[in-house]
Amino acid sequence: MSLLQVENVSVQFFGLKALSDVTFDVEPGQVRAVIGPNGAGKSTLFNVITGYVRPNEGKVVYDGQSVVGLPRHVVAGRGMRRTFQNGGVFSELTVLENVLTGLNAVTASSTLGIVLRLPGAGAAERRAVDEAMSLLETMGLAGLANNVVGDLSSGQQRLVEITRAMAARARLLLLDEPAVGLSSSERDRLMNVLRDLAKDGVAVLLVEHVIDLVMAVSDRIVVLNYGEVIAEGTPEEIRSHEAVLEAYLGHG
Ligand SMILES: Nc1ncnc2c1ncn2[C@@H]1O[C@H](COP(=O)(O)OP(=O)(O)OP(=O)(O)O)[C@@H](O)[C@H]1O
Ligand SMILES: [Mg+2]
Repeated sequence: MSLLQVENVSVQFFGLKALSDVTFDVEPGQVRAVIGPNGAGKSTLFNVITGYVRPNEGKVVYDGQSVVGLPRHVVAGRGMRRTFQNGGVFSELTVLENVLTGLNAVTASSTLGIVLRLPGAGAAERRAVDEAMSLLETMGLAGLANNVVGDLSSGQQRLVEITRAMAARARLLLLDEPAVGLSSSERDRLMNVLRDLAKDGVAVLLVEHVIDLVMAVSDRIVVLNYGEVIAEGTPEEIRSHEAVLEAYLGHG
C-alpha cells in the first residue's frame, strides 16, 4: 500500500493556480521525484504535504490517514520529515548537535548537556550520540562532528540537514533540492544514501533540478508545469516524453 497519497490537490494563491488537480503516490522503499521548471509548484506541493499550506481542494493521505489540517509536529512524529529549499540547520550549533536535535528523544535544550556529558546525561543520551555518529559516518561527515555548522560549505550544511532528517527515523523523507551546492563527490554520496534509505524501506520524495541525479536515483517521476502534472512515469518514460521535452526545451 502507498505510504503517501496525494489526491486531486489544488492550491490557489490570490488567483494564481500554484497546483491544479495533482495526484500521485509514494510507496515504502520508493524514490519518487518531482521535477518541473521554476515556479511549477514543487515547493508548494511539499508545503501542502507537510502541512505548511492548506490545499483549496484535494486530499493528502499519509499512512492511511488524512493529514490535512493536522498539526505539523503530529505528522512529523509519525515519521514524515522534510528538508527545506533554503537551509534548515542551526548554524550556531555543531554538526553533532544538529543531528542530535533530529533524534526524536532529544530536545534542542538537552543537546548541549549530552555533548558536554553533563551529569544528567545518561545511557540513553550516550546511545543518542552513538546513533548520531554512525549516521554522520554514513554521510561522510564524522570528521566534522565537532565543527560549527555555520563554518561549513553550503554543500556540507545541506548534508547535515539531510542527516538530521534521517536521524528522526523518517518513514517518508521529503528533500527539496538537496543537491544545491554539493560537489560531485557529495552528490554521489547523496545518491548512495538515498538508494540505501529506499532499500531499508524508507519512502523518499525528491524535488531536484539536477536531472542526472533524478534519473539515476528515482523509481518514478512526476513532472509539474504551471501547477499541473504533465507526465508521470519511470525515468526512461520521462526522458522521452514529448510534453516534458516541450516544457523544458520550449519547442513544439
Ligand atoms: N506563499 C505564497 N504566496 C503567493 N504565491 C506563492 C506562494 N508560494 C509560492 N507562490 C507562487 O506559486 C508558484 C509556485 O511556486 P513554488 O515555489 O511552489 O515553485 P517551485 O516549483 O518550487 O519553483 P523553484 O524551482 O523555483 O523552487 C509560483 O508562481 C510562486 O510565485
Ligand atoms: Mg521550490
